[in-house]
Amino acid sequence: MSARIIDGKALSRQLRQNFRRHAEHLKQQGIVPGLAVVLVGDNPASRVYVNNKIKACEECGVHSSTHSLPADTREADLLQRIEALNADDTVHGILVQLPLPAHIDMRRVLEAIDVNKDVDGFHLYNVGALATGNTIFPPCTPYGVQLLLETAGIDVAGQNVVIVGASNIVGKPMALMLLQKEATVTVCHARTRDLAQHTILADILIVAAGRPNLIVPQMVRRGVVVIDVGINRLADGRIVGDVDFEGVSEKAAWITPVPGGVGPMTVTMLIDNTLRSATRLAGEGEGIGSLGWDAPTLHPPHP
Ligand code: GUN
Repeated sequence: MSARIIDGKALSRQLRQNFRRHAEHLKQQGIVPGLAVVLVGDNPASRVYVNNKIKACEECGVHSSTHSLPADTREADLLQRIEALNADDTVHGILVQLPLPAHIDMRRVLEAIDVNKDVDGFHLYNVGALATGNTIFPPCTPYGVQLLLETAGIDVAGQNVVIVGASNIVGKPMALMLLQKEATVTVCHARTRDLAQHTILADILIVAAGRPNLIVPQMVRRGVVVIDVGINRLADGRIVGDVDFEGVSEKAAWITPVPGGVGPMTVTMLIDNTLRSATRLAGEGEGIGSLGWDAPTLHPPHP
């Protein structure tokens, strides 16, 4: 068997064309959707991610502002900046790029973001809402994975889904979303004994561990669906995921490539959340439909 490719780049392109139309529609109603991105320090990977987010905004007609602060920024000053963005009516989404420098309390910063502008879905309110199936802003990476599965026609209900990686950004919210969709979910992590014993049972395997070649063909069953969330840069400069793509493709039914799988979707779903936020904050409430929103809302837009 040679796996079918789940093409995140192509799906992103399609979605962004939709989003551009929706942004235009909002502008005709006098609403210019706006995203503020806060970057503290000069982590090169974070800089690349932030640039990708800004580019996606431009592509979709969403206004963006970047707030680059030096690595030695005081926590109090960062909190003040967030307060100002909370109060700014032209800003519908606020994203603080992670990781933050060690002297800053990340939780305090994330909790300072207005829950109605929390387009990353990292505020405790939104985490709790996700746990109860009422989220406003699904975290972008798992949201993108969910959409990739849906558009490939893969129903997760009743399936054994194994997630490798238990981070707050990917593994844990992914597990909650899948549970909501009635999948049987196993979450493996760095302390899991005998990883292969779990992965071999997966109908759907989602890997977000940040380790190249962690998943090799012997660890999966024939016909598995593989979603590779990993983005690793090798010494020779190549970007690879966490899965041995060539080997596992021989056994899998579906697989996402790296690059061009989950990565573009993460950024694209941020635009979806920003447009939803702009619509809500403009007081349109249930009016997402009335604004012609046929975007991929995989959850009720308004809990
Ligand atoms: N750092 C790595 N991934 C993410 C993300 O999805 N959002 C933010 N804010 N920071 C990140």
